[in-house]
Amino acid sequence: MWHFCMWMVYLLPLFCGLSYCCGSKEYFINGKCCLRCSPGTHVYKHCTQYNSTWCLPCARKSFIAYPSSLPECLPCNVCHPGLGLRTVRECTPTSDTVCGPLDQHYCTETHKKGCRFAQRHTICRPGQFIKRNGTTLTNTECGECPDRTFSENYFSAFCKPHTDCQSLRLQEITAGTNTSDSECGPRNYPRSRVAGLVPALLVVLLLTVILRKIMKRKRDRRREQQQNEERKMKNMEPENDNMETSGWRTIGDDQTSPTLMSKQSTTLRQDNEASKKGTFIRVLSPKNNNKFLP
Ligand SMILES: *[C@@H]1O[C@H](CO)[C@@H](O)[C@H](O)[C@H]1NC(C)=O
Ligand SMILES: *[C@@H]1O[C@H](CO)[C@@H](O)[C@H](O)[C@H]1NC(C)=O
Ligand SMILES: *[C@@H]1O[C@H](CO)[C@@H](O)[C@H](O)[C@H]1NC(C)=O
Repeated sequence: MWHFCMWMVYLLPLFCGLSYCCGSKEYFINGKCCLRCSPGTHVYKHCTQYNSTWCLPCARKSFIAYPSSLPECLPCNVCHPGLGLRTVRECTPTSDTVCGPLDQHYCTETHKKGCRFAQRHTICRPGQFIKRNGTTLTNTECGECPDRTFSENYFSAFCKPHTDCQSLRLQEITAGTNTSDSECGPRNYPRSRVAGLVPALLVVLLLTVILRKIMKRKRDRRREQQQNEERKMKNMEPENDNMETSGWRTIGDDQTSPTLMSKQSTTLRQDNEASKKGTFIRVLSPKNNNKFLP
């Protein structure tokens, strides 16, 4: 019995070291049980033989929500707009800030009573309608516009049916899409004729232009040929001996006589050689006779 009591004396502090012997409102420190500080305060000095625990209130933007032995208060949470968050409830000494999703956002990560991360609601595009409005906890649901309906704007609550041209005794000119209404026009609108006329006119215009081009080219070629022949004829003129020796030569004359035509080939060759050597050639054009050109 005595031994048992001695055992307890030694063991008790050991148990208390594991804080089994302190009450739920106490904490174990320096071999003693001290009272915890109430929410909103932190321990400044541990209790002594004479004094109980000395507690001080939490500074601004810090809090402690439960009775504790903490030497410092905890920093308040900040609701960051970058995380899609806004402040729902400000921080107090006894409670942390409560964050919630920003407008048109929904919480994707809850944390205790608040939200830790939020995402923007899906935006329903033209061609869609809002099937279900988003909440702070759920995303918006979009639906595709069914056949023969359309929506032109973002955030459309519903899709409007296409205008039924036939029921208006009109003709459909443009079919509706999921983002646009159908367009109606007067009945028996000569759509196909007008539609066909424009390309036809274009083709005719194009053909005219092409034909004109071809004709012009032919005409030009013919004129060129004529000029070439004229030039050839002029080249057939007999040489002027005096000019040949002095580096000058007559190569053109309008009144080339047909009898000189047979003499040409040798003269032409000589002409070419002469021009290669860089000698001067006198050109006699029909308008400006006897002009000298280098
Ligand atoms: C006891 O606590 C009071 C404040 O509660 C303080 O003024 C005093 O100095 C403390 N005494 C000792 C011995 O710690
Ligand atoms: C609308 O119609 C087009 C083509 O038919 C389709 O690609 C598209 O997914 C539809 N919906 C929306 C919302 O644009
Ligand atoms: C969504 O909310 C708008 C008003 O904000 C309301 O007009 C519309 O009917 C709602 N849509 C649904 C599907 O609840």
